[in-house]
Formats: sequence, structure tokens, C-alpha cells
Amino acid sequence: MIKKILVINGPNLNLLGKREPEIYGKMSLSEIEEKLLNYARQNGAEIESFQSNFEGEIIEKIHQARENFGGIIINPAALSYTSFPILDALKAVNIPCIEVHLSNIFGREDFRKNTITAAACRGIISGFGWRSYIYALIELINKLDSIN
Ligand code: DQA
Repeated sequence: MIKKILVINGPNLNLLGKREPEIYGKMSLSEIEEKLLNYARQNGAEIESFQSNFEGEIIEKIHQARENFGGIIINPAALSYTSFPILDALKAVNIPCIEVHLSNIFGREDFRKNTITAAACRGIISGFGWRSYIYALIELINKLDSIN
């Protein structure tokens, strides 16, 4: 099993740090990606990060992951609530995947409570700010180690 993990961030997450910092925190996406890279390096894993505001680009990136990655961490952002195509893409590639959210989507507006994409994931980590990504990475590394 490849210990290479793809981190995908969806729409508007390129604005992290500036966008509603009281909800999403003050850290920029590149700072979060740096933290993930460091944690992965210390634990013998590799990370590639990808962000897009376009659903189709995210789907193509998921397809490309099929041969090259052992795990996916995805924050589909608001596409969580609309994207059957991302759900199907995650199911199609059959790579262990964890959905993350910075905010606790279950404690916010009702429309945020029903994530469609999480059904294709092993689980969901929501509400721990940038550390949601680290917790997902810990779990995926453990999962990949236990397969090795
Ligand atoms: C988010 C939560 C979503 O409801 C929202 O649309 C986002 C960010 C989060 O990480 O908390 O864009 O996915």
C-alpha cells in the first residue's frame, strides 16, 4: 500500500485565514498544508495538496489518485451538500478517504448537517479547526500501516 496521501480542498478554502476567521480560524490554507507536510514527513508518509473551486477539477483529481495514492483527505466545503458526482468519484476509486471540516457542521445551519460525500468516506472529522486535518492524517497513516 502506498503511504502517499492526497489532500483535497474544495471551494472557497483558498481564502482560509481571511474568510470568516471566527468560524474557520486565522490559518491560511498553505499554512495548514505545511503542517500536514511536516507531520507526514515525521511519520514516513508523503502528502500532495490540491485545492480547486471547480467541482469537475476535483473529480478529475480524485480519478488521477487511483493509481498513485493510498489515501485521500477531502474537505469538499459546500460541495459536501450538493455533489453526487464527488460521492460517485470517491466510490469509484475505492481509496480509503476521510472527510474533514474545520467547523462543526452539525452545530451550524441545518443545510450543513447533511453531507452527501461523507457516505463514500471511512469517517468524518468536523469541528477541530486546522487540527481536523491532522486527526484525519493520523487515522489514515495508522490505516495504511496496518495494511502494510
Ligand atoms: C467547511 C464547512 C462547510 O459548511 C462550508 O461550506 C465550508 C467549509 C468547513 O471546513 O468547516 O466551505 O467545509
